[in-house]
Amino acid sequence: MTPGTAGSLSDRRIVVTGASSGLGRHIVRCLVGRGATVLAVARRTDRLERLVTDLAGEPGRAVACTADVTDEADAAAMAAATTAVLGGVDVLVNNAGMEVQGPLDRLARADFEAMWRANVLSIFLCTRALLDELRRSRGGVINLGSTVVARPPRGRFGYVVSKAAVEGITRGLAVDLGRDGIRVNAIRPGIVPSELRGLTEDEERARFEAGQHFGRQALSTAGEGRDIAEAVAWLAGPGGRFVTGAVIDVDGGFSLGLAEAAPARD
Ligand SMILES: NC(=O)c1ccc[n+]([C@@H]2O[C@H](COP(=O)([O-])OP(=O)(O)OC[C@H]3O[C@@H](n4cnc5c(N)ncnc54)[C@H](OP(=O)(O)O)[C@@H]3O)[C@@H](O)[C@H]2O)c1
Repeated sequence: MTPGTAGSLSDRRIVVTGASSGLGRHIVRCLVGRGATVLAVARRTDRLERLVTDLAGEPGRAVACTADVTDEADAAAMAAATTAVLGGVDVLVNNAGMEVQGPLDRLARADFEAMWRANVLSIFLCTRALLDELRRSRGGVINLGSTVVARPPRGRFGYVVSKAAVEGITRGLAVDLGRDGIRVNAIRPGIVPSELRGLTEDEERARFEAGQHFGRQALSTAGEGRDIAEAVAWLAGPGGRFVTGAVIDVDGGFSLGLAEAAPARD
């Protein structure tokens, strides 16, 4: 991977999984806005195509790729599309994920396994499918963890387990792939409006605006998808050249664990 102009990602070929909504969509927007060529991966083709159309006229380019990242054949097809469309890959952003909430006695085994497949197995399959290309480019992998690993909320243990595994994968692969020049890092977002918890982004934002989450953060501002996207862009660019095995909190101070509830607003 050769260094680009500060802030510009015009020399970067990037694969982003989970690009059809939430953080993934913001990440693709941010990267394409900085000139990157992005393969936008998810299952909902209509949403991916809408995103690609929205980004026409930006400095970079997005290309839609329909794939289920928990399926090995789809991961192989995604890798083939990466080679055919991008000519290789410099950065893989393993963002796809899902959550089903519930305490131990109420969470269905199928839901526990589904979170493991979407949040953990997907990273194994996609990173392995792109490994030869990442070795060629001496590229990078960015995994989406979660701040809930630092402060597990009640009734979400299955998701916490899967995101703890994301940190394990990140550190383990950083060691294994470091000699190939491949950097592997994770970002732990705080609470950011998206469709992850079954609401629309606007409904989630309204909950923030009602002050519902501020008591748990150091900052009394709501996080947005673009805050996470900026951290991804930094790691994907020349600024992240010497960073590997890191787990970076982008959470408004949620992971600090406030001793007492703060007022809704300063
Ligand atoms: N929002 C937050 O507060 C927050 C906090 C911490 C961590 N995170 C993490 O951030 C990542 C993005 O979540 P989000 O909040 O943006 O949620 P979201 O809006 O629900 O987006 C999830 C994305 O993952 C994709 N996806 C899920 N399963 C997939 C599969 N089997 N194959 C391909 N794509 C799949 C979905 O696309 P399709 O349905 O079209 O396939 C969708 O694009 C997740 O890893 C999540 O755990 C989010």
